Amino acid sequence: MTIYDKIKRTLQELGVSDAQGVEALFAELRKTAEQERAELVSRGAPDQPQRERFCKALRDRWLARKGGFLSQVDQNWLKPAGKELKPAVGRQFNELRRSSSGLEFEKLIEAMPLEPEVAKQMELPLASDSSRAAPRDLTLPGLHRPLGSIHPVTRMQREIEEIFLRLGFRIESGPEIESTYYNFDALNIPESHPSRDDWDTLYIDAKTVLRTHTSPVQIRAMEKYGAPLYIIIPGKCYRHDNPDSTHSPMFHQIEGLAIDEDITFADLKGTLDFFAKMLFGEKVRTRFQPSFFPFTEPSGEVAVSCFVCDGQGCRVCKESGWIELMGCGMVHPQVLRNGGIDPDKYSGWAFGLGVDRFAMVRHDINDIQLFFQGDVRFLEQF
Ligand code: FA5
Repeated sequence: MTIYDKIKRTLQELGVSDAQGVEALFAELRKTAEQERAELVSRGAPDQPQRERFCKALRDRWLARKGGFLSQVDQNWLKPAGKELKPAVGRQFNELRRSSSGLEFEKLIEAMPLEPEVAKQMELPLASDSSRAAPRDLTLPGLHRPLGSIHPVTRMQREIEEIFLRLGFRIESGPEIESTYYNFDALNIPESHPSRDDWDTLYIDAKTVLRTHTSPVQIRAMEKYGAPLYIIIPGKCYRHDNPDSTHSPMFHQIEGLAIDEDITFADLKGTLDFFAKMLFGEKVRTRFQPSFFPFTEPSGEVAVSCFVCDGQGCRVCKESGWIELMGCGMVHPQVLRNGGIDPDKYSGWAFGLGVDRFAMVRHDINDIQLFFQGDVRFLEQF
């Protein structure tokens, strides 16, 4: 039982029946008060008002007339004490009360260092620093600085980057606030396309959007480097999507783009199959199905056989045996032209995947929102 529980009980309930027992109880109480005081001093405070608030909280905890620890001792130990014990309890109680101004709560304020001083102490542990009011107790526990770790989405992104870096791709980036030209027009997405609607896209003004995908960086990179070009483009994207378990208005994509002479759909299939095996294990198989994107022709959706059940059907693949990975296709000749590359000489493939969804599959997480709520209980699992 802690001393905090003991002050809620009478001496009789605690089985204390002689002066020695009383003395031991008060000694425990004094020790606790001193420990709390020392902990507060070692903790420090960011500024003077906070310093005063901390000290007041400690003073109230011990000395408040209603419910303070001393008043509980008065109520539960002193008042109900029997005739034989009362003098011993009274003596100890008065002593404690005297020294509880004796806990020197006022002096605490000057003793408590402001945080910059705490940091200084950590770099330069000068026990002999005479400018500090209280001597430092080296037996006290140190300041607890919890270690951070890499966010699961960042970790997923880095894992994917590693695979493509090994294949000779470079990492490229582009602006998150993007023009409608790069986000839509240059990618062959016509004015009438539903994705341009302001139900889907977050507009800054008529000509500026929060990019809805990483594909605009395809054009920027073509303009900047020309061909041949082997890049991946990780980054944040934004859509006017209502948050639910698989959608977030802000999410992460990785775009892949390879442009060279004689690039064919076989290169795309081979590269993405290799990528899937590196990421999910040698056993997985890839499946390509036709799809449509205005900036690739032909276009496809890639799925991988479930790396958990090997295609049998389980919770991770929603009983289908397959996990949808990404959209992809051969870069549309008009898109190459828009990027200043001659489609008669060069061809290319591209893909775009959702990193957050990959991380969900990898860790069997059923709600994308968990990634962005900053709840340490969730994050510390990674
Ligand atoms: C695109 O964005 C195309 N730019 C991909 C592409 C690139 C195709 C190059 C061909 C060639 P799509 O709208 O399907 O495609 O989005 C790609 C991925 O982004 C999705 O598979 C999904 O994983 C992720 N995604 C899209 N919207 C959200 C959202 N609101 N929250 C989380 N992830 C999302």
